[in-house]
Amino acid sequence: MLNVNLTGKVAVITGSSRGIGKGIALIYGQAGAKIVVSSRTLSACQEVVDEIEAAGGEAIAVACDIVSKPDCANLIDSARKAFGKIDILVCNAALNPWYGSLIDLPDETYDLCMNANVRSPLWLIQMVFPEMKERRDGSIILISSGAGMFGLETLGLYAITKAAEMQLGRNIAVEGGPFNVRANVIAPGLIDTDFAAPVKALPEMYNSIMSQIPLRRIGTVEEVAGAALFLVSDLGTFMNGHTMMCDGGTTIYKPG
Ligand SMILES: NC(=O)c1ccc[n+]([C@@H]2O[C@H](COP(=O)([O-])OP(=O)(O)OC[C@H]3O[C@@H](n4cnc5c(N)ncnc54)[C@H](OP(=O)(O)O)[C@@H]3O)[C@@H](O)[C@H]2O)c1
Repeated sequence: MLNVNLTGKVAVITGSSRGIGKGIALIYGQAGAKIVVSSRTLSACQEVVDEIEAAGGEAIAVACDIVSKPDCANLIDSARKAFGKIDILVCNAALNPWYGSLIDLPDETYDLCMNANVRSPLWLIQMVFPEMKERRDGSIILISSGAGMFGLETLGLYAITKAAEMQLGRNIAVEGGPFNVRANVIAPGLIDTDFAAPVKALPEMYNSIMSQIPLRRIGTVEEVAGAALFLVSDLGTFMNGHTMMCDGGTTIYKPG
């Protein structure tokens, strides 16, 4: 019998007030997990909590700016206070603060992006890992990006952090594996969220990107959430250290 039931599991998801994080929160909630919804905006998180509860699920909202270590610690503490444990951690929130050449990149912008996209996920993993290791059960997901697979002209900083997230996932998978703590990475292509809005607003760029996607369309939040459900459910228990490209075939495509 198929088992995508997360009843009894507790999931913490950063950046889950909208976009991909919200999609993951909703699908995990539908599968029976207790959800900790978080972003910088408590009211927006509460709206997601209301949606999960209206569908019969259980959730709490916690404000957390991922670049703040005290905020991250409070997120984990609040989850434990409300639900007693954390089985699933999804590091989804990320920043993309620089559009331009790496040659002109200011140190502060490098630090901000590396802190948000690489160091903060590591903080959160460090905070949940001992509990998962002791219980011999835990699943960690990092939301990276297809950008981390390519050399890029203008999104180089973002791409470096997203490539680092893939490596972070591999390293944690190796450290956690002997204790049944799994880590996997999802690298979405272009997904229809606010994050992708600037690209959609530029028809020439948008059409050029579409021509590089074998499926010839943008992805949906639900399609990424489906991959995230597979990885933490009983269907995905032999997946460890993997980077799942959820990109309509972009990475494997070479026109010609
Ligand atoms: N959409 C795409 O095309 C695409 C493609 C590849 C990878 N990704 C990756 O997917 C992830 C989610 O992207 P998305 O498209 O879903 O973005 P989104 O729709 O813009 O949503 C971003 C979420 O993160 C929260 N957030 C932003 N800054 C934060 C911070 N400093 N601390 C905590 N939360 C913060 C936002 O809420 P608040 O503003 O209220 O904090 C919101 O909940 C990111 O890691 C991104 O790199 C997206």
